[in-house]
Amino acid sequence: MIELTDLTKIYGHGDDRTVVLDRIGFRVESREILAVVGPSGAGKSTLAQCINLLTAPTFGSVVVNGEDLTTLSSKKLRVARRRIGTVFQSSGLFERRTAAENVALPLEYLGVTAAETRARVAELLDRVGLRERADHYPFQLSGGQRQRVGIARALALRPSVLLSDEATAGLDPTTTSSVVALLRELRDDLGLSIVFITHEMDTVLKIADSVARLDHGSIVESGRLVDLLTDPASGLGAELRPQGVSADAATGQQVWHVVYDRPDVPSDWIARASADLGAPLSVLGASVQQVGGVTIGAATLGIPERLAPRVAQVLARYGLAATSDVRVGAALEGVA
Ligand SMILES: Nc1ncnc2c1ncn2[C@@H]1O[C@H](COP(=O)(O)OP(=O)(O)O)[C@@H](O)[C@H]1O
Ligand SMILES: [Mg+2]
Repeated sequence: MIELTDLTKIYGHGDDRTVVLDRIGFRVESREILAVVGPSGAGKSTLAQCINLLTAPTFGSVVVNGEDLTTLSSKKLRVARRRIGTVFQSSGLFERRTAAENVALPLEYLGVTAAETRARVAELLDRVGLRERADHYPFQLSGGQRQRVGIARALALRPSVLLSDEATAGLDPTTTSSVVALLRELRDDLGLSIVFITHEMDTVLKIADSVARLDHGSIVESGRLVDLLTDPASGLGAELRPQGVSADAATGQQVWHVVYDRPDVPSDWIARASADLGAPLSVLGASVQQVGGVTIGAATLGIPERLAPRVAQVLARYGLAATSDVRVGAALEGVA
């Protein structure tokens, strides 16, 4: 478990004073992945550095397993910091060391015996699927493999928290998916609390149990991923939701956006709702996927004017929340 309270970072003084992080608070349980999203310059990397105390926060606390790391002496902090493993964007590997030697580094610093180190490194490389690559140098590894080495090294001292700052940035979608799958496995198998920092919304959808959006140093929206996705009023949910919109096909009709509001939406809801309305609903776009065992979906429907008054009520029977998109509808009327 990791919990931040009022974590604040201010650079400079007087007129040069910049509040980079403003009273950040969140809690990530064991076996939970919190994705922190935000645009470039939002303060994400500063947050990562404050969480693992590479940078001293101006005030606020970072509590890991019940201990506030911000109050520790530097000697105690060195020990306590082992509870947080960190993975960076560029993986930060030493180019002149093999994969195995990179993973061994934290163990060497700690004075672990050579035999123990060998055994632990083999176990770690195995865990991230790189047993065959132990003696390869970073330049001989793909981007995804380098990140796996970085993850193995971050896990060397058996942390309870894994902190990732843009670990999948620059990776292609397939490689990103495999790194994400590895992190989710590690979350479950090792009971990790993972803070996954990214600017990529589509990666959030793949990895997160919960999400916090950082903007100008403040958390402006947060919640469980499933709750955000199914909340029609959530701006973050709308950005994260898989989009299947092709509104230009809707000329002459009202355009409605529909989101799955319950986990038990029947798969044949379109046919059933059409039967209830006595007219077929035309689906302009739809996207449905599983997130954390729950079906999340969004659809864009074209609906004849005369049916519009009853649509929301009928769809609600099947666990769907519908809102009409007056803006798109008006634009289409202008075209027609
Ligand atoms: N040492 C520093 N002194 C002053 N400002 C800084 C310092 N480090 C970062 N910043 C500022 O903090 C803001 C957030 O930066 P950063 O945490 O790197 O954002 P992100 O990782 O979200 O792109 C930026 O405006 C940056 O200029
Ligand atoms: Mg950054």
